[in-house]
Amino acid sequence: MSTDFELEKRLAAEAAAALLADGMTVGLGTGSTAGYFLAALAARELELVCVATSPATEAEARKLGLRLEPFDSTDKLARLDIAVDGADQVAGDGWIVKGGGGAHTREKIVAAAAERFVVIVSSDKVVDEIGPPIPLELHAFGLAATLERLGDARIRSAPATPDEGVLADWLGPVDDPAELAGRLDTTPGVVEHGLFAPELVSEILVGRGDEVERIEPG
Ligand code: 5RP
Repeated sequence: MSTDFELEKRLAAEAAAALLADGMTVGLGTGSTAGYFLAALAARELELVCVATSPATEAEARKLGLRLEPFDSTDKLARLDIAVDGADQVAGDGWIVKGGGGAHTREKIVAAAAERFVVIVSSDKVVDEIGPPIPLELHAFGLAATLERLGDARIRSAPATPDEGVLADWLGPVDDPAELAGRLDTTPGVVEHGLFAPELVSEILVGRGDEVERIEPG
């Protein structure tokens, strides 16, 4: 019997939506699993203030009647109570990879601003070890020089990000996610990469069959 990954995504999303309460400020992730979360959240009809991590999420959240605020003003919303987002890879030690949808820069900013960052995935996202591709957002300025410095990276055939970044993927080995994350963090021209450290992740909700498993990194 084949696994129903869409059901698993929905179950994980519903479990995350159950964590929210009236008055919370909420970061909304991007992607199909985050889409299930938006629907589950809207169905709860809570009083919330939300920020979106992509134009697609913003449009969907508006359609569902969720209250949105911009996240680019300096006088409010410096912290969020919770952020909920999907992932491309989830390892047992809490390292995750995001950015399959190209939104990892905004997603990481929102996750880092949240008291609690909850990751929701179907069971096929769970891996023994993190591996390539690792999504990258690169500055357009000096692109050839950045690619040369990176070596094992390839431009993705995708439109520019809302922040005018160029999407690419690291295709080299990922022997040590912390070492690679450190290297990418200090490579000029790399705006952001899709490696999210365990310290950023409060909990991971994995839909598995008709149940939801909870992983608490670290
Ligand atoms: C977008 C992301 C997504 O959360 C990630 O790609 C998972 O997407 P999906 O839930 O559609 O499998 O990081 O940048």
